[in-house]
Amino acid sequence: MPKQIVISKLGGPEVLKYEEYSLPKIIKDKEVRIRHTAIGLNYIDTYHRSGIYPLPSELPVCLGMEATGEIIEIGNEVTNFKIGDRVAYATPPIGAYCEIRDFPEEKLIAIPDFLKDDEVASILLQGMTVEYLFERLYKIKNKEFILFHAAAGGVGLIACQWARSIGCKMIGTVSTKEKAILAKKNGCEFTINYKEEKVSDRIMEITNNKGVPVVYDGVGKDTFDESIKSLSTRGLMVSFGQSSGMVEKLDMHKTFNPKSLFYTRPSLMGYTLNREELLNCSNNLFEKMKNGDVKTNIYKKFKLNNADEAHRILQSRKSSGSIILEP
Ligand SMILES: NC(=O)c1ccc[n+]([C@@H]2O[C@H](COP(=O)([O-])OP(=O)(O)OC[C@H]3O[C@@H](n4cnc5c(N)ncnc54)[C@H](OP(=O)(O)O)[C@@H]3O)[C@@H](O)[C@H]2O)c1
Repeated sequence: MPKQIVISKLGGPEVLKYEEYSLPKIIKDKEVRIRHTAIGLNYIDTYHRSGIYPLPSELPVCLGMEATGEIIEIGNEVTNFKIGDRVAYATPPIGAYCEIRDFPEEKLIAIPDFLKDDEVASILLQGMTVEYLFERLYKIKNKEFILFHAAAGGVGLIACQWARSIGCKMIGTVSTKEKAILAKKNGCEFTINYKEEKVSDRIMEITNNKGVPVVYDGVGKDTFDESIKSLSTRGLMVSFGQSSGMVEKLDMHKTFNPKSLFYTRPSLMGYTLNREELLNCSNNLFEKMKNGDVKTNIYKKFKLNNADEAHRILQSRKSSGSIILEP
């Protein structure tokens, strides 16, 4: 029998259990059966595990939003894929932490020949996130300063490279000297160690007191105030995650009115609403990879049964780049 990681209750990494399961006897008409080759670990998995984000169904639930694999069976109405195809996905329905699963063909992406499965599993979700953040939500520009938090993280290192490819001067926050070196190596123009320096003071120094037109903040609670202080008049605050916890109480008038700021709380799902958007988004990412503008940074691979350890490392801030689970 195949094995998967399931949670039967919400909590810390210890609630992740490695168990046998059985597959449905019949594949749904518009689904394919995939034998996973690599699974991407994402911060959102920790939100699902702890209950910060609601789960789509009752417990027990198999976590995970991103994987690659080979199609081993297809439903009766599948038209775009065949047995043997190498495929990837980075969207719900959640349930990627397993060896074999059924998945809707409309959300599947074909893996280009020039990329290996583990490369794609390490970058698809985080890379498509950078694509919509930098190309569609707010189009970053050549020579423009932007602020991006956790620049040495999974999303962060892709952002560094993407910004460099456009000539945009990304200012990235990091928590250690080592992470600062890594972010710079990947294309970050300036780094700020937010454990040692006040972010907004450094931003004003770098931008000649103008502030930045956009802040990309995936850290949340701990960085929100400094992000707001770092923005220029009519700047855009993009809250796209909360690795340090949710921003809870907010005085809207006091926060946004003095500088006439804009605010958005986007999700990748909201920017890949249909098949056309999904394929445009993934193709833009693959194009950047083909050009050599964006490369993967795999921090570590863990066996699927060690998913708990992988979650601990991600949440301890020890990792940089992306983490893979091997089925
Ligand atoms: N909205 C979307 O569409 C979307 C899509 C993908 C990801 N995200 C979000 O993007 C963010 C980054 O995701 P990721 O998978 O690439 O993770 P990650 O950046 O690799 O890991 C999180 C990083 O956040 C920083 N951090 C700051 N305070 C922290 C704290 N108290 N606890 C833990 N980490 C803290 C750490 O970097 P330092 O040590 O340098 O501070 C840590 O390495 C997450 O918030 C995630 O939810 C959003």
